[in-house]
Amino acid sequence: MKGLVLLLGLAAVAALAVGGGDALQQPVVPAVFVLGDSTLDVGNNNHLPGEGVPRANTPFYGVDFPGGPKATGQFSNGYNIADFIASRVREKPFGLSGAQITELPHPQRSHQRRELASAGAGILDSTNAGDNIPLSKQVRYFASTKAEMEAAWGTHRVSAHLANSFLLGIGSNDMFQTKPKSTAEVAALYATLVSNYSTAITDLYGLGARKFGIINVGPVGCVPRVRVLNATGACNDALNLYAVGLAAAVKSALAGLAPKLPGFAYSLADSFAASQASFTDPQSVGFVSSDSACCGSGRLGAESLCMKNVTLCPNRDTYAFWDSVHPTQRAAELVAQGVFDGPTQLTTPINFKQLAHKRY
Ligand SMILES: *[C@@H]1O[C@H](CO)[C@@H](O)[C@H](O)[C@H]1NC(C)=O
Ligand SMILES: *[C@@H]1O[C@H](CO)[C@@H](O)[C@H](O)[C@H]1NC(C)=O
Ligand SMILES: *[C@@H]1O[C@H](CO)[C@@H](O)[C@H](O)[C@H]1NC(C)=O
Repeated sequence: MKGLVLLLGLAAVAALAVGGGDALQQPVVPAVFVLGDSTLDVGNNNHLPGEGVPRANTPFYGVDFPGGPKATGQFSNGYNIADFIASRVREKPFGLSGAQITELPHPQRSHQRRELASAGAGILDSTNAGDNIPLSKQVRYFASTKAEMEAAWGTHRVSAHLANSFLLGIGSNDMFQTKPKSTAEVAALYATLVSNYSTAITDLYGLGARKFGIINVGPVGCVPRVRVLNATGACNDALNLYAVGLAAAVKSALAGLAPKLPGFAYSLADSFAASQASFTDPQSVGFVSSDSACCGSGRLGAESLCMKNVTLCPNRDTYAFWDSVHPTQRAAELVAQGVFDGPTQLTTPINFKQLAHKRY
């Protein structure tokens, strides 16, 4: 579980008709392409070899999964942010179908999603190298998936669906892993991160993606695993500032990229703003704790991993953090609601709902 964080998965949501044999004939609902890190991984890492690969495939992960506890690989007590956003997108399937999907699918069985996200992944190939599928490789997997779909349904049909919608976000693992020692190193890292991120987005655009919902990097210095290193349990301000700088650089890069890519549209979620209430006024959003892991042990629940022999917090919905790095299902839902329907200060230049309703 190296460097996995709440607020920066990279998910790509595409209005694609995908599915089993029968679905090949008839598009049903838009599909969701998800690229990113552990905030969005629904089990890809379960299939990666290696001891160091972070996996959420043992109890108590998934303890609140609908239909009974099931450790699917999601780093949550239940659904993650991608699940909530995907379910919202599919409520309004871009006019492709009259189907109204109101219940969340079981991610492992869903034919409407293509999951490429991988826990521990970063914008840089070097981030937790060898123990995840880095962003650049996720983009290559997307290209293969697209080729398979084209073989099945034809180029025209696939491109029409691809143009509809994408959702992305990644970077917290890069924040955890890179340890710049000077302002010059910080500046150099921002430049590399933004350049590589822009390349990934431009490559997806080149493959036909047009609408991008992007979850920007958030308060990585406030996760229990980082707080526990401070005697007072305070957030690591330096780490948060490092992330604030990356978030700003990504924001300006996207504003610069958009005019160069005809038809490109995006919504960038400000994860600092979207989670601010959880940290400054936890009670206002129904949390009794926003500094401790529900599943863990020791100080702040952050002195052990989330595993079967620890004591869970009694009410998961009252905790912001599920384990020492990842949000609870409830915290994920709040963030997803905020960026989807939320006020303009949570997203730039439009919210995810407005993005989802854009037509091409
Ligand atoms: C990122 O940027 C560096 C430096 O420009 C480059 O060497 C590397 O290939 C890029 N791509 C990835 C995915 O790390
Ligand atoms: C712990 O956090 C406080 C408050 O942010 C800060 O002043 C202090 O320097 C931190 N201690 C360490 C060891 O980082
Ligand atoms: C749980 O089990 C692990 C070994 O599997 C052990 O290292 C850890 O200390 C145990 N935690 C508790 C709270 O008993």
